[in-house]
Amino acid sequence: MAQLWGGRFTKDTDQMVYDFNASINFDKRLFHQDIEGSIAHVVMLAKQGILTLGEKDSIIKGLAGIREDVDKGLLAISPEYEDIHSFVEAMLIERIGEAGKKLHTGRSRNDQVALDMKLYTRLQILKTDELLKELLEVILDTMERNLETYMPGFTHLQKAQPTTLAHHYGAYFEMFKRDRLRLKDIYARMNYCPLGAGALAGTTYPLDRSYTSSLMGFEGPTLNSMDSVSDRDYLIEFLAALSTVMMHLSRFCEEIILWNSNEYQFVEIDDAYSTGSSIMPQKKNPDIAELVRGKTGRVYGALISLLTTMKALPLAYNKDMQEDKEVSFDAMDTVQSCLELFTGMVKTMKFRTDRMADSALNGFANATDAADYLVNKGVPFRDAHGIIGKLVLYCIEKNTSIDALTLEELRAVSDQFGPDLYDAVSLKTCVEKRLTAGAPGQEAMKKVIAVNKKYLKDDWIEVLPGYVTGTEKV
Ligand code: ARG
Repeated sequence: MAQLWGGRFTKDTDQMVYDFNASINFDKRLFHQDIEGSIAHVVMLAKQGILTLGEKDSIIKGLAGIREDVDKGLLAISPEYEDIHSFVEAMLIERIGEAGKKLHTGRSRNDQVALDMKLYTRLQILKTDELLKELLEVILDTMERNLETYMPGFTHLQKAQPTTLAHHYGAYFEMFKRDRLRLKDIYARMNYCPLGAGALAGTTYPLDRSYTSSLMGFEGPTLNSMDSVSDRDYLIEFLAALSTVMMHLSRFCEEIILWNSNEYQFVEIDDAYSTGSSIMPQKKNPDIAELVRGKTGRVYGALISLLTTMKALPLAYNKDMQEDKEVSFDAMDTVQSCLELFTGMVKTMKFRTDRMADSALNGFANATDAADYLVNKGVPFRDAHGIIGKLVLYCIEKNTSIDALTLEELRAVSDQFGPDLYDAVSLKTCVEKRLTAGAPGQEAMKKVIAVNKKYLKDDWIEVLPGYVTGTEKV
């Protein structure tokens, strides 16, 4: 047991209590952020005359040495310390002596952990965004190559109207694009620095909070010290955004699982992303898609967990908040690995375009277009709907499709049918005539692709402050 706060106590902490309380096993992840925050704090303390330049230099050298040794594997983050903050401080004192004891001047672990978690989350937002961007690039590339890959569009999982693979993928492009926009919003809203809030009520030292916040690439300091140490909104927002990413991935996976099934055969998942069965030799299972779909639950779980942890906490810091870490780390890891694997899977997946087109031909996906044909001949839409309904029934009985009927058969239902019907309900016409903005017709799709190409070129990461953090420059 190694802790920072023995003075007031007369008995040792019970071992079970100590273990229950300790967080080093998971907050060791914040090691780099803890060092970075401490360096910024010390640089500011020296600027304000609270530490001497000599003390500052010696602390920074000590912290940089600890970072280097841990990174090189020469120093292990030992679980005998209560948390990562205690570990770093204890190592510093061990290495540089008296000056090390001044590191924590004007700081509390409450604002320290608030800062570490923010720095860590900020980085994870950027990493998630990068992975989303890579996925969007694969999706857009597939769209460009499949403008004429016809397939059925579904509602209620019933064939509804013909569309294209480009159009179907385009829907996911918009979803993941919104996910990135959400991340951008969250980043901008959270990018204020809590360091200097102290335990809850600031400090009597003349800290320059604007300076520390600029050193670490924040927009500025947070404006209420109680809120600074007890705010986890940004994490909740991030977990909500991650849940939405997972919901999108899961829907996409569900479709891929269907498309990969024997019944559809629209796609073939690459061997590298499938697994076999130990008993059924014919099997090639879409495990990765199923696992991504399955892991959605645990990310939702993290969101609900943190919302519940925070729900009745009085101001300001409460130890409950230590529970923000494990669930959040797990959700961040899960989403990143899901995005990486999913992108690899769709990148290598083969499309059976013949099966897609066949499927679009059967199942009356062109029934709306047949009704529209009659409307163009002057039949009111409601009557046209009824006529085509009858025709579909006739086709079902004869096990055929509208475009395979003879003109005589068609005219037996309505004398408005002419030989131009066949072209009007062909797959190509059905799709290519749909030219409203956002529709699958090629000309409409090309406009959307151009907009989205431009969007992918604008890289918001580079323009946001805080990506390259200030202390690296110190
Ligand atoms: N391990 C704590 C956490 O993650 C750090 C803050 C501790 N503060 C305190 N007053 N005990 O929240």
